Amino acid sequence: MEIVAVLADIHGNLPALEAVFRDLNKVSPDLIIVAGDMVGRGPQGNEVVKLVESKGCDVIKGNHEEYLLDIINMKLPAKWRDEPEWRAAFWMAEELDKESVSFIRALPYRLCIPFMPSFVIVHGSARSTNYGLGEWLSDLELSEHLKELDASFLVCGHTHLPMYRVTKWGTVINVGSVGLPFDGDQRACYYLFKFHDNGSIEVEEKRVYYRIEDTLAAFKTSGFEKEAGIVADLLRLELIYAKPFLVQFFRWAKASKSPLTRESLEVFLAVGKKF
Ligand SMILES: [Fe+2]
Repeated sequence: MEIVAVLADIHGNLPALEAVFRDLNKVSPDLIIVAGDMVGRGPQGNEVVKLVESKGCDVIKGNHEEYLLDIINMKLPAKWRDEPEWRAAFWMAEELDKESVSFIRALPYRLCIPFMPSFVIVHGSARSTNYGLGEWLSDLELSEHLKELDASFLVCGHTHLPMYRVTKWGTVINVGSVGLPFDGDQRACYYLFKFHDNGSIEVEEKRVYYRIEDTLAAFKTSGFEKEAGIVADLLRLELIYAKPFLVQFFRWAKASKSPLTRESLEVFLAVGKKF
């Protein structure tokens, strides 16, 4: 039997990733695949990249690796560094050392596992790193992605919402998020795939407890909290409630023409956000 672990969307949350690796020690998988978004939306991206690299994982790029490379390659206007919604992203890009940037730069966008080429791993979907697959899609819509990638098993991340869907065209699995789950369960999420000798594949969702207090402490000690301002406030809420806040707040602020301030966030939490 071969065991493959797939994890995604760590988002600079080192305590969550360390807890997952401790859990994986008990399983001793043959292969560990990281399906993108090691970095972004969290303070310890550089440490996360180093740990992933040291464990010999196979890794692909997510949309957040693309954003940080765009910043490093100066594809975004430098003046955005002072915009509240971009300051954190610039800080995270600057935190990556040269070796981590080279590691990220060389990553592919998709992988398949050596002994089963139709078991395909992408970050978002066949369409892009930024278009995720979730429960809102019909079997027919999911089948387009299976067909386009020549996959009988398609494994992805990006949405931070775990999903296990068996369709007549193949199976689509979203492995959820290690560092920032959005399904209401704070624990780190990852998936194990056990390839049995009789050809069957056993799929298991794993949830791992870690101390969110340690992640929040890293917000402070790393300097992220001070630099990221309102973004750090929103990410703290996402960690605690395991629900999305950041994108919703920015959308609400734009629609209501509210400034990106803590006062606006209080109004948003009072009237704009339904739990
Ligand atoms: Fe993500």
